Amino acid sequence: MRIFVAGATGAVGRPLVAALIAAGHSVVGTTRTAAKAELIKRMGAEPAIVDGLDAPAIRAAVVAAKPEIIIDQMTDLAAVTDVRHFDRAFATTNKLRTQGTDFLLAAAREAGVKRFIAQSFCGWTYDRSGEPVKTEADVLDVDPPEELRRTLEAIQYLEDALTSLATPEGIVLRYGSFYGPDTGMLSRAMIDQVRRRRVPLIGGGGGRWSFIHVDDAAAATVAAVERGKPGEIYNIVDDEPAPVSEWLPALATLVGARPPIRVPAWLGRLFAGEHLVSMMTEVRAGSNAKARRELGWQPAHPSWRQGFAEVASGATAQHAA
Ligand SMILES: NC(=O)c1ccc[n+]([C@@H]2O[C@H](COP(=O)([O-])OP(=O)(O)OC[C@H]3O[C@@H](n4cnc5c(N)ncnc54)[C@H](OP(=O)(O)O)[C@@H]3O)[C@@H](O)[C@H]2O)c1
Repeated sequence: MRIFVAGATGAVGRPLVAALIAAGHSVVGTTRTAAKAELIKRMGAEPAIVDGLDAPAIRAAVVAAKPEIIIDQMTDLAAVTDVRHFDRAFATTNKLRTQGTDFLLAAAREAGVKRFIAQSFCGWTYDRSGEPVKTEADVLDVDPPEELRRTLEAIQYLEDALTSLATPEGIVLRYGSFYGPDTGMLSRAMIDQVRRRRVPLIGGGGGRWSFIHVDDAAAATVAAVERGKPGEIYNIVDDEPAPVSEWLPALATLVGARPPIRVPAWLGRLFAGEHLVSMMTEVRAGSNAKARRELGWQPAHPSWRQGFAEVASGATAQHAA
């Protein structure tokens, strides 16, 4: 099939383009810069240089590509270092999830696209009461900490837009927290923060997180292209949701750091903010049962424990070379 990947150079865009091409699809991938267009060519896809917030340019790129499917992987998080001001850090990503979605959808309709798949998130977005591990049928947080409000609204906007579509058919993939070589939880910035003990364990660390290796996220996305059901949302996460009190010390050990500093919730609230205390102590994780069942997908890295270790040992080997 002919597939338009918006955001082909990102954490999941890169392995996704490779996986789509390996599965026999023909891919047009977007970037904003000529330098990264070369990377897209080297991956075997056709580059389109376009800004997702430029409606006429997006329209022209989609119409010229004549895709059957659009996959939206655009976020603007590469420069984010400080999540204390979360909504500010996510401002452009939130625009991409609202305006950017509208622009792509309008272009998709004009180009006669059949299916539109978009990136969402699985984790802190769920309601913080009830079961520790949530399914797609569970509600999102109705009263999130103030600092997360606009980001959650943008996510809900995107999800509502996609799941209410008749043409093209929409599918939402809620990816867990990414990790992979030099990305997400195993990015240089995160490893550096953990080594400097700048990621404290707040309160009891009872907040639960879901992780996903970026290669598994890419494989699930290919499965959604081929087997996803119209109008559905899928949690794309590994098999082992984990409390912060388990994964953060384990990550510290893996990257050769001393155990994280422990901070009481009241102090965390003062220095980090209510939202980061909530992420450490209250948030819920997601179940991948629906994605396994309906997409016929299973993660090659079923547990972050082995996944983190595999990626961290690669990073150490690279560092030593
Ligand atoms: N679920 C998760 O945990 C999650 C989700 C997303 C990101 N992250 C993490 O956040 C960090 C940064 O993510 P990333 O490496 O994917 O980079 P990113 O800066 O978020 O970019 C992702 C993709 O979106 C494109 N993009 C950004 N702004 C755009 C715009 N205005 N118009 C069109 N395209 C635009 C980028 O293209 P160009 O830059 O080539 O133009 C790139 O292909 C990574 O550590 C990643 O793991 C985590």
